[in-house]
Amino acid sequence: MTNAPLKVAVLISGRGSNLQALIDACAQPGFPARIVRVISNEPDVFGLERAAQAGIPTATINHRDFPNRHAFEDALHAQLVGDGVEFICLAGFMRILTDIFVERWLNRLINIHPSLLPAFKGLHVHEQALEAGVRFSGCTVHYVRPAMDSGPIIVQAAVPVLQDDTPDDLAARVLLAEHKAFPLALKLIAEGRVTLANECVMIKGAEMPRLPLLNPSEE
Ligand code: GAR
Repeated sequence: MTNAPLKVAVLISGRGSNLQALIDACAQPGFPARIVRVISNEPDVFGLERAAQAGIPTATINHRDFPNRHAFEDALHAQLVGDGVEFICLAGFMRILTDIFVERWLNRLINIHPSLLPAFKGLHVHEQALEAGVRFSGCTVHYVRPAMDSGPIIVQAAVPVLQDDTPDDLAARVLLAEHKAFPLALKLIAEGRVTLANECVMIKGAEMPRLPLLNPSEE
């Protein structure tokens, strides 16, 4: 007997390219998760169209319609519980969540961030990476904890930073990596292969990647 797929909500604020990567992954036969709801805090964003095109129910919960963060999050929580959501993916969701919401969904809430955390938190991450002169950047999928852009790391993907990169060049390269990393993290979790020990992630049967990745390369 196979387990029922994990019921996932994806929260977005914009174009939803990571949402699309998750939609495409969930459409693969045997993928262990299913997106039951897409919620945006911004009305009329392209991500909502992507969801509708895939036949996934959407909701817009506009934070501006609420007197404070708690009221906004109560509405969010009610929607999620009403949909029978078991797990939440933040895919370009640009609202900071309060400790109360994070605690309510503890270890059932993951986020993607476009840097190799703990480096370069917050906004303008690609500018930060270029200013620091790092040879690699990338993305991180992590469990959400109350402090911004922190929490146990599930998957990271590294990309080289090239000499003439603009922030937009680097963002585009990192985004391609995000589209691989996020579905992988969700798959590992939905397969029940991810556990936490002392706030570090352990992954059953994780494969060692090929090494070393040099930038510049040797030849
Ligand atoms: C992605 O690059 C994601 O990592 C970032 O927003 C973009 C959303 O793009 N998220 C954050 O910066 C959160 N701190 P998308 O809407 O095309 O998925």
